[in-house]
Order: sequence, then C-alpha cells, then structure tokens
Amino acid sequence: MVTLMLAGRRVILGVAGGIAAYKAAEIAGTLVKRGAEVQVIMTRAAREFITPLTLQTITRHEVASDMFTPRSGGVAHIEVARWGEAMLIAPATANLIGKMAAGIGDDLLSTIVLAFDRSVLLCPAMNTTMYRNPVVQRNIRTLSALGYHFVEPCSGRLACGEEGPGRLAPTDEIVAKLESLLCGVPRDLAGVRILITAGPTREPLDPVRYISNRSSGKMGYAVARAAVDRGAYVVLVSGPSALSPPPGVKVVPVETAEEMHLAVNQHFEWCDVAVKAAAVADYRPQTQAGGKLKKRAANLTLILEPNRDILAELGRRKGRRIIVGFAAETEQLEARAVLKAQKKGADLIVANDVTKLGAGFDVDTNIAVFAYPDGRTVSLPLMEKLALAHRILDEVRELRKAGADNG
Ligand code: CTP
Repeated sequence: MVTLMLAGRRVILGVAGGIAAYKAAEIAGTLVKRGAEVQVIMTRAAREFITPLTLQTITRHEVASDMFTPRSGGVAHIEVARWGEAMLIAPATANLIGKMAAGIGDDLLSTIVLAFDRSVLLCPAMNTTMYRNPVVQRNIRTLSALGYHFVEPCSGRLACGEEGPGRLAPTDEIVAKLESLLCGVPRDLAGVRILITAGPTREPLDPVRYISNRSSGKMGYAVARAAVDRGAYVVLVSGPSALSPPPGVKVVPVETAEEMHLAVNQHFEWCDVAVKAAAVADYRPQTQAGGKLKKRAANLTLILEPNRDILAELGRRKGRRIIVGFAAETEQLEARAVLKAQKKGADLIVANDVTKLGAGFDVDTNIAVFAYPDGRTVSLPLMEKLALAHRILDEVRELRKAGADNG
C-alpha cells in the first residue's frame, strides 16, 4: 500500500540533460503514485536522454521545454511557476546549477526557476570530477545559502566508468525529502540529542561465519531521517545495513552486540532521547574460532551465551531521558509489549506483529502498537515506516513535555 502523502500537491519536475535523466521516469511515477500532480519541464538536452512522450504518459500532463511555443492563455513560465507548490529538479546538471547560481534564465526551465518563489529541491547528478569541481561546489554552496534544498548525489560507478559521488540519489530519498518540504515537517525537535540504534548485529562463529537476523535497518534509519528533518542532532549506531544513512546524521557502524553496547554507552550521557530500533542478537557463540571451522562428519554443537540487554541497562540509568524500545512479537502483542516496557524501563515500546502482512522485516511499511509502562496501548494502522517514525517522534515530544511539566 502506498500512502498518499502528496495527494493533490502540485509539483513541477524539472529534468536537465544528463544520463540520469532517464531516472526522471521513475521519480515522476512515484510522485504520481503518491497522489501528486506533476508538470514536467525538460531542457532541450534532456530530450536527448528521455522522450517527452514517456514523461507525458506517466504524468498525464503535457511536457513543456520550449519558451516560444505559441499557446493560448498566459505566459508559459509565469503560469507554470504560479501553478507549482514545489519544484524538484532531477537530475540537476552542473550547467543548470551554474545558471541558477548566476541568475541566468535562457530556456523554459531556468526561466521558471527565476519566476518561482517556493521550495526548490535540486538533485545533482554528473561526472565525479565535475561534481568535485570547485566552481560547481561554490555554486551549490551559493544556492544552499539562498535557501535552495539539495539531495546529495550518492557514490558508485558512474556511466562514464569513473567511481565516486555523482550518481543521482535514490528515488525514495528524493521523494521523502520533497514530502518533508511540502508537508512542512515541524522543527519541533530542534537541538534535541537523539541516539538511535538500527539494523541487526552479527555474532561471529569464525572469521567467515556469523549468527544474525533479518533486520534491514529500515525502521531505525527512518527514525533517524525524521529526527534530523525535525531539527534534532542524531547519532545512529548501526549494525550492518545496505541502507545509506540520511544526510546530517552521525553514523557509528558496529557489528556485534558488544560493539553496539560500547557505542551506545559512549553516547548515552550525551543524549536526551534513545530510540532502540536495532534487532540485537540475544545470544553469541561462546567461543569464536580463530581460523575457519572445518567440516567434519559428526554433528556440530554450538554453545551460545547471552548478550547483555542494552535497552534494559539504559532503562536502569536513564535519569530524565526518554527511552523508546521496539518489540517484534508473533503473539500476545499488547500484553507482552506492556510487560517489556515495565521490565526494561522504557517510556514507550513500539511493538509489531512480524507475522502480519505489511509489518516486520525488510518492508517499507509497518503496523505498530504503542505500549506504555502504565498498561496503556494504542494500535496504529498500516503506514510507511517514515510516517511511523514521525508518529514515534510526536510521542517522544509529548513524553518530554510531560516529563518537563512534572518537574
Ligand atoms: N534489545 C537490546 N539488547 C538486547 C536485546 C534487545 O537493547 N540484547 C532491545 C532492542 O533494541 C529492542 C528491544 O530490546 O528495542 C527488543 O526486545 P526483544 O528482542 O523483542 O525482546 P527480548 O528482550 O529479546 O525478549 P524476547 O526474547 O522475549 O522477545
């Protein structure tokens, strides 16, 4: 299920001429799926990489790229600029960024940018050397200082064969940023220090094998992104995860539960809030072989010893901090979650039934129950993990307020 966070919102999608222009189709499709109305404006060069017909078919809006096409009605660039609630430029080329920084309007897209006075989100994509070029970097800084928003490109192998930053950011990240700009995420956690754990831990058996679990880290990373967008300082202690951390977050990568314990301890004094979304392994192999274990004909018995419960330990020395834990259950969700909140000293347990469709591991949605140590529970509907992250942070804000009111 897709949440219609952008229902009825009017987005101008500017597409400049780079190899990543073909990805505009996926971005446009995602925006439309989330309910947005999308008007695509392409540069002439962009048409060499993707046809207007493709984007027109996806958005069901005529695609424009020419300043001087005769038309009935008003002046094209002014009308489009008035229509849009936000402008997303993906990909943004070095050329377009340079023109914007210099205030040049010499085609329809750059002219609309000049006539547009609401949020503009740029997603640069270009060759690594071009991206690192000091002139391009200066232009990006100039635009940032003027209030333009950016989703940084990610690193990887580029079309030109070089490695490094320059790939257009993932569609999810671009759309999430646009949503947060359009939906006006409140800066209600400005300055709050939040420690978040995410992902699985890996407990090694030998140098090549480990015990782990199916956590992807999506929930914890969503909380980190939401917290940064709301103005918090975020330290994300992350077990191995394929996700790219949200910009603005300090990441502390760890592997084992012991390493996570150490990293959490190092930042616990610093934080005001701890959100423990990591799926910490409850056990680790008692011994870890120095060399690779060799197969033998006989059965192999592993002896596992318990890991420390990090959450419970934090609960005991929390002081005035707000602590949020998670619980993945398969039965008696509410009762067990309440008990967990009481036992572990958490102010809130976010519990989910991992057997339900749309909840649990490696999906973008979740169905959660909030459980409190006083026995209260609140069931939430199926929602995107980012939306749930915001609900959790709303709750954190309320719990902090209640704590402050009680002296
Ligand atoms: N947790 C932790 N340290 C551990 C185990 C769990 O900090 N060694 C935290 C998780 O980050 C999460 C919560 O505790 O916030 C999850 O608890 P869960 O694993 O569901 O419960 P357990 O305590 O393992 O109890 P059970 O085995 O009954 O599910």
